[in-house]
Amino acid sequence: MKSEVGTSQCRKQSLIEDARKEVSELTASDPMAETSDYPDEGSSALNIIFTIRKHSASPLSSSLKILEKHGTIIHHIETRPAGRYKKKGEELECFVKCLIHNSSICSLLSSLKKITDDVKVVKDQKSPSFPRKVQDLDMFQHLTVKFEPNFDKDHPGFGDQEYKKRREHFAELALKYKEGNVIPGVEYTAEEIATWRQVYKSLSSLYPNYACKQYLDTFQQLEKYCGYTENSIPQLQDVSNFLKERTGYKLRPAAGLLSARDFLACLAFRVFPSTQYLRHPSAVMHSPEPDCCHELLGHIPMLADKEFAQFSQDIGLASLGASDEDIEKLSTLYWFTIEFGLCKQNGSVKAYGAGLLSSYGELLYALSNKPELKPFDPEVTAIQPYQDNSFQPVYFVSESFEDSKVKLRQYAVKMKKPFYFRYDPFTCSVEILDSFQKVRTALCQIKDELRSLCSALDNIC
Ligand SMILES: [Fe+2]
Repeated sequence: MKSEVGTSQCRKQSLIEDARKEVSELTASDPMAETSDYPDEGSSALNIIFTIRKHSASPLSSSLKILEKHGTIIHHIETRPAGRYKKKGEELECFVKCLIHNSSICSLLSSLKKITDDVKVVKDQKSPSFPRKVQDLDMFQHLTVKFEPNFDKDHPGFGDQEYKKRREHFAELALKYKEGNVIPGVEYTAEEIATWRQVYKSLSSLYPNYACKQYLDTFQQLEKYCGYTENSIPQLQDVSNFLKERTGYKLRPAAGLLSARDFLACLAFRVFPSTQYLRHPSAVMHSPEPDCCHELLGHIPMLADKEFAQFSQDIGLASLGASDEDIEKLSTLYWFTIEFGLCKQNGSVKAYGAGLLSSYGELLYALSNKPELKPFDPEVTAIQPYQDNSFQPVYFVSESFEDSKVKLRQYAVKMKKPFYFRYDPFTCSVEILDSFQKVRTALCQIKDELRSLCSALDNIC
């Protein structure tokens, strides 16, 4: 598909012209030629073009009734005289841009063909496919390897064969993992524990003055209940159980960096991909890639906070089916909040981002008077250039997690997608809201919950 689809220049001509030029035609016998990578019961965005005779009895209204009967959600209708191939003035070309359940496409086309001529279907620009249920995350094996010891000659472990072999072992554990499995425990070596100890001691000395209250509260609990000490590296399964109890988040082992789209999609399902390996012992205070010091000390404490967990999931949900351009913006938002975010607390600024809370030098720098601080505003934050190999040029400060969550949701609503969905926490799946029945069922569930909450409120008051 050509990249100019959707540019203003094309739009000025006609959506019909766009459709004719830019998308491959699908015949009625093969309307499902393009399917999602994920097995699903979803819908397709279609452009349907058909010709109607002006003097026929109510052809347009009949067509609309057929569309309605097949449960289509119409986004746009356009008609114009059929000029190029038909006798001008006697026929109308009708263009309908709509969303329709996959199972209804063939029936719709057959019905339209009975009352109109030249029915053509062109599938709309395909939305990127995305996981519909938590088990689909097992398909994510797309690793970004640019910072790995095998590929990055600046990596401190680049020439260390023993370290690379150890990394292969961790990668194997992660790649074998399937949703629902127990995360394999690791017997860490004395050298790895020494690395952990050094990082743990230096960072935990900074937390009381630099970390936000939510982080400090959870960190205490992790020390009490989850084996967080300077002398032992917590096991991912124990940490996952801890998170599950508090916010529903759980961990899955990751062999390395996932692609931005895959990583954000995991957050949508309250799953956090976590590495299990340690950074190279020659560079204890700096790792070019995430390691378990970064995950366990940077990310985990905040994921146990309910508001932060919701904020993280919201970024993930916004990413599902998003365009590449929006994925880049959401990744940038993720970067300046979940990784490098600051927040106001009792009149001072504290850190909540994992990249800061797992980096001695950058934590001190971010909360010195050297860097520029800006208020968190998704429209601005999403396009801020960032650094992945040195300190950030600017940090964004949240008023509160609640405030950031509201702003993020307002931002995400403006992202254009050809469908609506809701996350079902009971089945850990995403349901596409493509029929009246589904929307009604969802509304009834919300109504029941609201009624229950109102009763509880009345009881308290
Ligand atoms: Fe991270």
